[in-house]
Amino acid sequence: MNIRIISGNWKMNGSKKDIETWFNDFFEKAKDFKNKDNEKIPDILICVPSIYIPYAQQIAEEHNNDNFKVFIGAEDCHQENKGAFTGNTSPIMLKEFNVKYTIVGHSERRQFEKETNEIVAKKALNALNNDLIPIVCVGESLEIREKHEHLTFIEKQVLESTEGLDLKRVIIAYEPVWAIGTGKVPTLEEIEEINSYIKTVLAKENNLTENDINVLYGGSVKSSNTKDITELKSVNGVLVGGASLKGEEFFNIVINSL
Ligand code: PGA
Repeated sequence: MNIRIISGNWKMNGSKKDIETWFNDFFEKAKDFKNKDNEKIPDILICVPSIYIPYAQQIAEEHNNDNFKVFIGAEDCHQENKGAFTGNTSPIMLKEFNVKYTIVGHSERRQFEKETNEIVAKKALNALNNDLIPIVCVGESLEIREKHEHLTFIEKQVLESTEGLDLKRVIIAYEPVWAIGTGKVPTLEEIEEINSYIKTVLAKENNLTENDINVLYGGSVKSSNTKDITELKSVNGVLVGGASLKGEEFFNIVINSL
């Protein structure tokens, strides 16, 4: 599988009203879009708080058409399928609602929920076992970047966070922690360096080719920098936080990635 995907991560934001406004704005712009060069539209996904998934799916169904189809994904899933894990959502539950994608190991979960690489790999495996595609996030802190230890750090993090996974069915998102929500974006060379490094490391470790490994970039992506980032050879798409909250801006991101 070699994919193109533009995905949003709403984090703990949004309301039913915001969902309605988002879809109205996105599809209002979509109405006027003329696909002159017959470009292939990428997969479009927004990951929302789990309580909003069914509502967002319902609104998406009312708007989706042959040209643009927005999938609704989850922001996390648990490593177990059921049991005494208060407050969590299992992939079985997500599957029951026809969810196809879930983020795992976002840096905010690693930081605030103390998720380790081992837990992230278990979550991703459980997602795969339930036919969900996990989007496994990795990324270094500013401290590590400034010490020039980012390549070693990313190698260990990505190998441990994907241990035992069928990587042809997994999406990796490289999100440097220092670029998330800060407006600071690595240079295009820096993004290319890490994304292609991740592909090389994972392909080698798993006896695959680099084309088998899909890697998104995330961290302060907006419509104005999408084109440059998505043109990079080793970038299969983007994972967008803040700028995914507005339907119009997200539509521009999708279009600028073409
Ligand atoms: P940002 O967040 O686009 O707001 O920087 C990205 C993310 O956390 O996935």
